[in-house]
Amino acid sequence: MRILVTGGLGVNGCWVVRELIEKGHTPVIYDNRSDFSLLPDLSGELNLVVGDVLDFANVIRAVKENNIDCICHLAAVYPDAADANPLQGFQINAMSTVYMLEAARIMDCDRVVFTSSVGALGPLTDEYLYPTLKPVGEDVPAYPMKAVYSASKVASELMGLNYKNLYGIGFVALRYAAIFGMGKKDPRHGLHNILWIQMVENALLGIPTVLEHGGDEIMDMTYARDVAHSVVCGVLAEPTPEHHVFHIGSGRRYTVKQFADAVRAAIPGAQIEIGDGRDPRNMGPRAYYVMDISRATKELGYEPQFTLEEAIKDWVMWMDRLGIQPTAIPSAGGQGGSFSR
Ligand SMILES: NC(=O)c1ccc[n+]([C@@H]2O[C@H](COP(=O)([O-])OP(=O)(O)OC[C@H]3O[C@@H](n4cnc5c(N)ncnc54)[C@H](O)[C@@H]3O)[C@@H](O)[C@H]2O)c1
Repeated sequence: MRILVTGGLGVNGCWVVRELIEKGHTPVIYDNRSDFSLLPDLSGELNLVVGDVLDFANVIRAVKENNIDCICHLAAVYPDAADANPLQGFQINAMSTVYMLEAARIMDCDRVVFTSSVGALGPLTDEYLYPTLKPVGEDVPAYPMKAVYSASKVASELMGLNYKNLYGIGFVALRYAAIFGMGKKDPRHGLHNILWIQMVENALLGIPTVLEHGGDEIMDMTYARDVAHSVVCGVLAEPTPEHHVFHIGSGRRYTVKQFADAVRAAIPGAQIEIGDGRDPRNMGPRAYYVMDISRATKELGYEPQFTLEEAIKDWVMWMDRLGIQPTAIPSAGGQGGSFSR
């Protein structure tokens, strides 16, 4: 299959590209940068269309010239950027989804797979929060009230559903919670996401990481390669899934101290000091929950491929294999920011 991957140079997209190639498919990356830092080994072989997802004519051209069968739409800006510039944020995150759906309709593509977010949901009631931590399923109403990013994800999901029902375009929206992995430290990813990569890259450099509190927080942390795997499951699922929205996660619940233990197991000598208590990212208790992935398992065949320990070892192995150098990441203190979604 020939698959357009928007945002294919990003921290999740790069793994989608790798898994598609591994499974014998042909990805075509559509991104507004030509930064191959996460795909250095494949830079000469990959087909990259440099362009903006809001350039509809260019999207159509890319789909047409490359005989695209399916579009994976990952390109987006993060919550802080979307809130800071709501018009642009909504255009890049929601209008672009309509462009992908319309491109699929006009050019006869089978399916659009879209990376949504748990941010699409309205406020979670207490049963989903600590200590009950009932896994968050797709039955929780989607009704975000204070985030342009989240509203743009809901708008995208709704337009996908309508293209599915009206025009028969296959549409799969995947909602993620916290994601960790290689490269997720650019300012565009937001300070509140720095915690995971800080522990790993500081450890690789022999630099201590100190986190004053939050070690006992329980949350769903999904490795970027499992995120990519869910996208590929969304592409390949047969028959076309009955539902259009799926929750994706690690299928497990981990504490931040367990994350640190996994780093210590992967990088002997890692110096990580984590205080007790909750809310390591200073985002409030409502920012921590676990995902119910049963619908994705049943309809998409999605199963997480990595335990936490395996994920960190894999991350370190890939940095070494690709020659990606760690950088020192100082403790940010109170990280705060908008929800990591
Ligand atoms: N915690 C998380 O990381 C998280 C959680 C939920 C959902 N998501 C979603 O996953 C998807 C991928 O996120 P990521 O972490 O890989 O992001 P990323 O920033 O690493 O990658 C996004 C890519 O999209 C490209 N891009 C951005 N704007 C573009 C535009 N206007 N035109 C063309 N390309 C553009 C960027 O250059 C980048 O390569 C996004 O849709 C994001 O909303 C992420």
